[in-house]
Amino acid sequence: MTKWFVSISLLLVCLAMIPPALIARQRAVTFTKPRIHIIQDMDAQLKFKAQNPNTLFNDGRSMRPPLEGVIARGDLMEDAHFYKGVINDEWATTFPGRMPVTLDLVRRGQERFNIFCQPCHGIAGYGDGIVNLRAMRLMDAPLLGNGTTWVQPKSVHEEAIREQPVGQIFNSITNGVRNMSGYASQVPTEDRWAIVAYVKALQRSQHARETDLHARERAGLGDPIDRRPRSDEGGGE
Ligand code: HEC
Repeated sequence: MTKWFVSISLLLVCLAMIPPALIARQRAVTFTKPRIHIIQDMDAQLKFKAQNPNTLFNDGRSMRPPLEGVIARGDLMEDAHFYKGVINDEWATTFPGRMPVTLDLVRRGQERFNIFCQPCHGIAGYGDGIVNLRAMRLMDAPLLGNGTTWVQPKSVHEEAIREQPVGQIFNSITNGVRNMSGYASQVPTEDRWAIVAYVKALQRSQHARETDLHARERAGLGDPIDRRPRSDEGGGE
């Protein structure tokens, strides 16, 4: 009785191995023929692909050139100010006409900045985001750090970047700059301008002037602040 039981159990265990073995084989082996389609969905269909030859037309091409005199529908992207941040081959210093700078735009920019830029540049734009932090840690790790290089994201508060025209910042976001890649494919044009507005707001926030304050708030400040370094501070900020 027990002998039978053991033999049958063993046999069943062996049989149970077959389906997973078959599945594993299917996954590992390369097939040259398309798999059998029981349900004929749209995987297989008769069509001409862009670069394939086509005898239907005299020039033998599948891809048809536009007819003479055809004009594009929609935006031709001729507005260099809006699409490239450029006016007369110079970086635009103003926002494009269709992007009036409103509080809503800056808010949208803040939201987008916090999604797309903050991981590297940090919440306040000092180049101290979490990705940078992690990269620096990895560089310090005894094994992982070997041969790894990392270019730190720039602080948007650096003088050279504070002085950049809005068009140039827009271009850095669009096409990337040196080691930073571009965000044109991920962030639509309008949002890139919104981010520029927010970067400008961030920069201003760290270099605010007393004249930025409302007269009422300024009154509360009392005498203008003496910003000259005191002699006992050794010339700090
Ligand atoms: C993956 C990390 C990363 C992300 C995300 C990122 N940046 Fe950068 N950014 C960098 C690095 C690195 C540099 C410095 C590149 C260099 O000097 O080679 C840089 C440089 C810059 C500069 C300075 C350009 C100059 O002229 O020197 C600006 C402005 C900037 N980034 C803005 C942004 C904005 C706005 C976003 C969001 C849309 C963003 N970055 C997203 C890594 C990043």
